[in-house]
Amino acid sequence: MKRLFSALLSLVLLLTLCACSASVPNDTDTQATDISAAPVAPPIPSTPTAQDPQKESLSAPPPPPDSTIIGEAHVETEEEEYVRTVDPSAPMVALTFDDGPHKVYSHQILDVLEEYHSVATFFEVGYNARLYPEILVRMAEMGCEIANHSNTHRDLSKLGKRDLLTDLAALDDIVRDAVGTAPTLIRPPYGAADKAVKYETGRAVITWTIDPLDWKYKDAEYVTSYIQNAGNLDGEIILLHSIHASTAEAMQTLVPWLIEQGYQLVTVSELMAYYYGELFEANH
Ligand code: NI
Repeated sequence: MKRLFSALLSLVLLLTLCACSASVPNDTDTQATDISAAPVAPPIPSTPTAQDPQKESLSAPPPPPDSTIIGEAHVETEEEEYVRTVDPSAPMVALTFDDGPHKVYSHQILDVLEEYHSVATFFEVGYNARLYPEILVRMAEMGCEIANHSNTHRDLSKLGKRDLLTDLAALDDIVRDAVGTAPTLIRPPYGAADKAVKYETGRAVITWTIDPLDWKYKDAEYVTSYIQNAGNLDGEIILLHSIHASTAEAMQTLVPWLIEQGYQLVTVSELMAYYYGELFEANH
């Protein structure tokens, strides 16, 4: 019985063993399949990518990110505005233009100033300023200085104080309406200034130090040559007029020439502050 039992037990064990060993290959196969699939699996993502570049570009989510990046880069380029600074230790000149704005010549002058990242001061008159407020806006946006050359271009020294103040206030109003702030400087027409003009307007009076007589000769070459031969221009205030084609033409040569000579083109107020170290005071 013992032998029979042990024989049966052996048989059962043998059968169990066989059953186990039969299932092992299955596991091994599965594992083998898994293992062999595993190395293939990683290439799969890269292989289709390489094989189907069209599919990739078609289904490409890249376009949105790309366009976003391009958009950002574009915006950054647009925002990259030139920031003008004044070097107090470097030579500087103030170009000043009277009697405008002029619908053509003011823009031509502003174009060349803008090209060379430069500014000037414009002493405007009321009868022109009220016609072209958009030119005043452009000047202000460029950092140019807008100043008062009176409303009617009369000889201010012959006006009573009340008429004098009324005249100056009229130009102030036009400029304030256009750009938000009123001028603080005046240049009396013909340079004619009596005691009231000099000391009783509540504004600072500014004239000039170099006068190429552009209004008289109306000759671009003359104006250009006059300024080029005026010697050291450091700290000078040059008188010009923005209502003459010849003056606008002269600026096409003079502005680049002045820059090439090492001059900074600044406003009158900047010249006063950075060159003379002073701020304009009212009634001076
Ligand atoms: Ni004038």
